[in-house]
Amino acid sequence: MRLVKFLASAGVASRRACEQLIREGRIGVNGETVDDPARDVGPEDAVTCDGDAVQPPDQRLVLVVNKPAGVVSTVRDPQHRRTVVSLVDSPLRLYPVGRLDIDTTGLILLTNDGNLAHRLTHPRYEVAKTYRVRLWRSPISDDALGALRSGVALHDGPTAPARVRRLRPDTIELTIHEGRNRQVKRMCEAVGHRVRSLERVGFGPLALGDLAPGEARRLSADEDRALRKTIRDPRARPGA
Ligand code: URA
Repeated sequence: MRLVKFLASAGVASRRACEQLIREGRIGVNGETVDDPARDVGPEDAVTCDGDAVQPPDQRLVLVVNKPAGVVSTVRDPQHRRTVVSLVDSPLRLYPVGRLDIDTTGLILLTNDGNLAHRLTHPRYEVAKTYRVRLWRSPISDDALGALRSGVALHDGPTAPARVRRLRPDTIELTIHEGRNRQVKRMCEAVGHRVRSLERVGFGPLALGDLAPGEARRLSADEDRALRKTIRDPRARPGA
C-alpha cells in the first residue's frame, strides 16, 4: 500500500495532510525519514509519525462505549466486577482511555492504539470532557455556577475555569479539560452540591449521542480524524 494511503487509512490525517506530513519529514519507515508518498509499505513495516508508532490500519481499533453504572473502567478487576472491556467481544487487546468512577455512566473509549490512549489522557493536550451532572439539592444557584466557572479550590489545587450551563434546576452540563480523580464530584461538593448521577456525554470532538448503555460502536472516519487532530495540536481544544 502507498505510504500516504497507509497513513490516511490509519486515521493519522486526511490524505492531503498526510502528504504534507511526509513533505515536512515527519514520517519514518523502519527508522528512516521518508519523503516519497508513494513508498510501498505493509503491516511488517514500522511506520512512525513524529516518532510515534502508527498502527497498521487493519489492526487498529477505537470504540466508543456507553459505560453503564456498576461497571469498572479497568481491564481486570481483583474484585471480579464487570469491566468495560468485557462489554465488547473483540480478539484484540483493548484498553480503556482514562477512567470513569464505577457509578459514572457514559462515554469511554476502548482502543489498542497505545499512543492515542496515552495522548488523550496526557494533561498537556487538555482534551475536553463534558459531563451531565444531576444534583441532589435543587435549584443550583447562580453563585455556585459562577464558582464552578471560575475554578474552585480542591485539596489537590484549584481547578481551571470550566464551561457550565444549567439544563434543569437540578441538572448542569460541565466541561473540564483536566482529569483528576473524582474531579466533577469534588467540584460540585466544593460549591455545596452532592452529585446524584454523572454521565459523560462528550470527549474531545466525540459525542455519546444515542448509543445505548452497554453498547459499543466504532469511530467513523471523520470522528477518528477529529480525535487525532485533538492530540496533534495541544492548543486545539474541541468543545472548549
Ligand atoms: N469526575 C468524577 O467525579 N467522576 C468521574 O467518573 C469522572 C469525572
